[in-house]
Amino acid sequence: MSKIDNLRKPKWVLVTGGSHGIGRALSLECVKQGLGVAIVALPNEDLRHMEEELAGIPGAAYLTLGLNLVGEGAIAKILDWLSEASLKPTYLINNAGFGRGGLFENTTWGEYRTMMQLNNQVMVELTYALLPILKETQGGVLNMSSVEATLPLPYKTVYTGTKAFVYNYSLALREEFRYYDISVSVLCPGPVITNEDGLKRVKAMGTLAKIAVTMPEDLAPEAINGMLNGKAVIRPGFLVKLMAFLGKLFPRPIKLRLLEKIFSKYREEDVAVAEPVE
Ligand SMILES: NC(=O)c1ccc[n+]([C@@H]2O[C@H](COP(=O)([O-])OP(=O)(O)OC[C@H]3O[C@@H](n4cnc5c(N)ncnc54)[C@H](OP(=O)(O)O)[C@@H]3O)[C@@H](O)[C@H]2O)c1
Repeated sequence: MSKIDNLRKPKWVLVTGGSHGIGRALSLECVKQGLGVAIVALPNEDLRHMEEELAGIPGAAYLTLGLNLVGEGAIAKILDWLSEASLKPTYLINNAGFGRGGLFENTTWGEYRTMMQLNNQVMVELTYALLPILKETQGGVLNMSSVEATLPLPYKTVYTGTKAFVYNYSLALREEFRYYDISVSVLCPGPVITNEDGLKRVKAMGTLAKIAVTMPEDLAPEAINGMLNGKAVIRPGFLVKLMAFLGKLFPRPIKLRLLEKIFSKYREEDVAVAEPVE
């Protein structure tokens, strides 16, 4: 779906997972700042709601594509879609991703595999495929990591692993892309309430989470301004900055033992029977 009248807007942002949660808030903030948004997300109710929401914003320029990013040929489909609309994004927001909390063995291998594909492989592949366009438009890339990337978190092992990849990959890529005048920023939010898993985590953390938790709309302006200003690491909000600072202050063995204790409620879970790895 698109608002064709507005396709002539000068700068466009391609946002993955822009139909819900943080991606939705980032997309709406882009629109607020006069940018056009090209949203790729799963073809379902969330995307339809987002289309309705965008249609109701006067002057909003948008384009949507319902697509499973981990499906066969997804990146090629995005390139075709952009080409058909003659659209060359200035910015790329690699936001789509998900995590699971709990005992390591309680997430299925299939889910871990999809998590690693979506959180890491899709991000790299999309950036790789879009690079010729980004070299032309000379904008920037915003990659979604998490404050958890640099902790890291027991009981969220694979997720924090994927986010540590995003963090290091983004900082390294930033230095390479300097030569092309393309900025690379990495966004490291704290806990944001967007879905069931977030709620589960808040319950597991108790009072601590109630203090630390934010809503997607709260972090979007700082995130988008950081991207537009080419900031390297964006840690939205005072508490996230404090968490990152404290994380560096504590010696690693003490920090990890403490984090394990905070999240040890997950040990009360029943251990699932692991599905066989194909
Ligand atoms: N929430 C937090 O506490 C938090 C903190 C730090 C970092 N992050 C990161 O921020 C990003 C967004 O998280 P969120 O909490 O906003 O998640 P969310 O509310 O679940 O939204 C994720 C978005 O990605 C889309 N999506 C999921 N799988 C997809 C696929 N295979 N193909 C295409 N689109 C797909 C979703 O579509 P549907 O809505 O249709 O499923 C949705 O639009 C993730 O990378 C996450 O790791 C989250």
